[in-house]
Amino acid sequence: MSLPDYITDIKNFLTDNDFPEQIDSAVILGSGLGTFGDHIQDALSIEYSEIPDFPQSTVVGHSGSLICGVVEGKTVLAFSGRFHHYEGHAFAKTVLPVQLAKAFDVDKLIISNAAGGINLRYRVGDLMIIDSIIKQYMMVSEPAVNTWSSKFEKYAREVKAIARDLNIETQTGTYLYVKGPNYESKAEIRAFRKMGGDAVGMSTAPELIEAAKLGVKTAAVSLITNAAAGVTDQKLDHAEVKEAADQKKGVFAKLVKGLIKE
Ligand code: 6GU
Repeated sequence: MSLPDYITDIKNFLTDNDFPEQIDSAVILGSGLGTFGDHIQDALSIEYSEIPDFPQSTVVGHSGSLICGVVEGKTVLAFSGRFHHYEGHAFAKTVLPVQLAKAFDVDKLIISNAAGGINLRYRVGDLMIIDSIIKQYMMVSEPAVNTWSSKFEKYAREVKAIARDLNIETQTGTYLYVKGPNYESKAEIRAFRKMGGDAVGMSTAPELIEAAKLGVKTAAVSLITNAAAGVTDQKLDHAEVKEAADQKKGVFAKLVKGLIKE
């Protein structure tokens, strides 16, 4: 599976700026979880805007920088700020972090996101290990999903065991992807629950599909930052997402470190 030429150009730019040729793990940081960057030692940081051919992320809570350094003795590439299709990025660009991770030949990729809870047992602040996805309205060519889903589910079980060893409580569930940018109606959430969705969000599915295509071992974790429409009487807003992320960032960092170390 070959990578686009611009990925090679970006990698060359980064190695010219002292990034190593090979990196152990890559992490894509979701809404409000960008503070994981503070846990990276000997960090080299480059703003997305300084990198030729790099898309810019525009969402509040996504700062937009690429950080390379050391965590738990492993080299790590962290994407603080991701690219959503609803911001106007083509799907091909939303998966650029996955392609760049592949170019650096990472052993594993860890994807995080903020998501709304659909499952009635979920509470704000829960971490959900994603073991499957449902895509709503996603028009993009896909790999043969069945050939990788069993591998992905197997790693999700390992992630669960690692979390348990660290005394971190997690849920395991299905991430339902919508294009956004709007939140859902109550009726949509009722329908999504019947379809088998446990959490809903606007990222991660394109990245997971690309990771499967490229054969990159990937863990994906959702932070439930709010209940989806109709689950509680509370109104949804972006401030709530940020608050939940701020409260859970320590536990999230602990889990990511555990995954990097293993
Ligand atoms: Cl409720 N919906 C979607 N689509 N994305 C979210 C969310 C809800 N909560 C956080 N991210």
